[in-house]
Amino acid sequence: AFEVVAQQSGVTVMVGEDQTIVEALSAAGIKVDVSCEQGVCGTCLCDVLEGIPDHKDKFLTEEEREDNDQIILCCSRSKSKKLVLDI
Ligand code: FES
Repeated sequence: AFEVVAQQSGVTVMVGEDQTIVEALSAAGIKVDVSCEQGVCGTCLCDVLEGIPDHKDKFLTEEEREDNDQIILCCSRSKSKKLVLDI
């Protein structure tokens, strides 16, 4: 599990092994727009303010991935214990 801080919303959630970041945020009342929910379309793209994403999507380019400042919320996870998102 890892922690996600929704900076704009002022909410912190824990993301368990069996849920996605979108699901954890939704449970806390933060709605993320999604479409494919498979990491392909880019609808759920979000800026990362702090932390290292564990990219599981097929949307970002290699370069974007390495920059670690954007994340696809429907399927990616976190390599750091905490991710701070611009949402
Ligand atoms: Fe399509 Fe996340 S909803 S990439």
